[in-house]
Amino acid sequence: MTVYSLVYVSRAADDAAVETLMPQIEAILATSRRNNSACGVTGALLVTEGRFVQVLEGERDAVQATYERILHDSRHAEVDILSSQYSDRRRFKEWSMAFVGDSPALRQRFADAPLAALGRRQTGDAVLDFMLDVARSPAETY
Ligand SMILES: Cc1cc2nc3c(=O)[nH]c(=O)nc-3n(C[C@H](O)[C@H](O)[C@H](O)COP(=O)(O)O)c2cc1C
Repeated sequence: MTVYSLVYVSRAADDAAVETLMPQIEAILATSRRNNSACGVTGALLVTEGRFVQVLEGERDAVQATYERILHDSRHAEVDILSSQYSDRRRFKEWSMAFVGDSPALRQRFADAPLAALGRRQTGDAVLDFMLDVARSPAETY
């Protein structure tokens, strides 16, 4: 089975602490889970340091259509694709949209590894691996 996966980073329009953004994030997650499960898209959304990082995976058309909607959402800006590629399996198959929230530990790990990679514009793979790793630790996901 071939899966298309897209990873992007963006900046939250309300550049606020994650606690302040939480009602907005809850609304985004509710919509995402409803729409994504209907079209077979899975993935994860990470929110930290006023940024969103999202992985979307599924059939290419479904991922593309979802991304087109997200792209025009005024709740964020500066949307920048980190990677888009095919792979042989879904990485986030358990989640229509996993939420990878903020925490001091997460912020530290994000700053240590993938954020540095973002700055150097490396592939999204480091970010993807990082998100999967965090999504699998129940304390930081729901
Ligand atoms: C950071 C971010 C991530 C989002 N992720 C998704 C998503 O995974 N799936 C989705 O359907 N909508 C997502 N949205 C919301 C879409 O931009 C859009 O509001 C929504 O798809 C409209 O769906 P509706 O017509 O069912 O209300 C996201 C929005 C933001 C700001």
